[in-house]
Amino acid sequence: MPTKLGHILETQQFKDRKLLDELYFLADEMRLFDKENLGLLERYKCKRNALPCKPRRKILANVFYEPSTRTRFSFESAMRSLGGDVISTESAGIFSSAAKGESLPDSIRVIGGYADVIVLRHPEEGAAKMAARYSRVPVINAGDGPGQHPTQALLDRCTIKRERGTTDNLNVGMLGDLKNGRTVRSLTYLLAQEDNIRFHFISPQELKMRNDIIQYLEEHNISFEEVPGEALKDVARNLDVLYVTRIQKERFKNPEEYEKLKGCYVVDHNVIDVMPGDSIIMHPLPKIDEIAPEVDYDKRAAYFRQSDNGKYVRMALLKMILDGS
Ligand code: NCD
Repeated sequence: MPTKLGHILETQQFKDRKLLDELYFLADEMRLFDKENLGLLERYKCKRNALPCKPRRKILANVFYEPSTRTRFSFESAMRSLGGDVISTESAGIFSSAAKGESLPDSIRVIGGYADVIVLRHPEEGAAKMAARYSRVPVINAGDGPGQHPTQALLDRCTIKRERGTTDNLNVGMLGDLKNGRTVRSLTYLLAQEDNIRFHFISPQELKMRNDIIQYLEEHNISFEEVPGEALKDVARNLDVLYVTRIQKERFKNPEEYEKLKGCYVVDHNVIDVMPGDSIIMHPLPKIDEIAPEVDYDKRAAYFRQSDNGKYVRMALLKMILDGS
């Protein structure tokens, strides 16, 4: 039976490796369809009255209360490549009725009448879960403050699989703002189910991984170490994957604290020179100053390939949500 997905709120939902395999198989198909420039829905022929007629195009609502480049555009590009339509608000806090004081539940109730799926980015942790409670249509969490960003983690895992051939037996370093970075949080929960995974959390003391994840790893007997930013080069020698994040400036209440930490770690030639030849460097992007420009030219820098994968994984997800695969 093809799998049909509903709300996508956090990576703990993806415990079933068969489901992940199905998703990535479909993402590969999407890559081919996209290259051949075929709209899937265009290919559909309505048999009623033996006349060709088109079904109504499905509609995705991109509802973004926080800035985005990759997530919003890749969802839009994915939906259009599938032959669907997109409605969107990119600064929902200013341009939607939220500016007039409308609550998130009310906005979601209304948008569900105009769209078949809602992609929501919001500054508050838990916003997507709350929206899902009020929504008539599936909600995809495109980032809820410092909470989670599950579709990013799914495309990150796809990238590791494509680049390394496996997601098992890996030393994965996560560098940077592990406290506020929702991508590293989602990815850790997702990769925690792989065989023989070893996490190396590298961060300044102030930006360490939060307790919920540490507890989860301890409870599930998953190997991890926490090391200070200065140990980056020592740890990098043994990494298969180095996942870099920027310091999440927008989460700091006190700008001075951000200024104090800004630029305190950087991945440059000194770091990549000691990394294994078959390792990869990932970043959810945008990168600011934490990766030196020279790294972009190293074949191990996978971050632009990673962002390309976002479109195909999101096409596959949308197909599984809207049609079943
Ligand atoms: C990330 C995010 O929004 O959490 N960006 C993205 O979706 N690719 C990472 C970030 O902003 O640092």
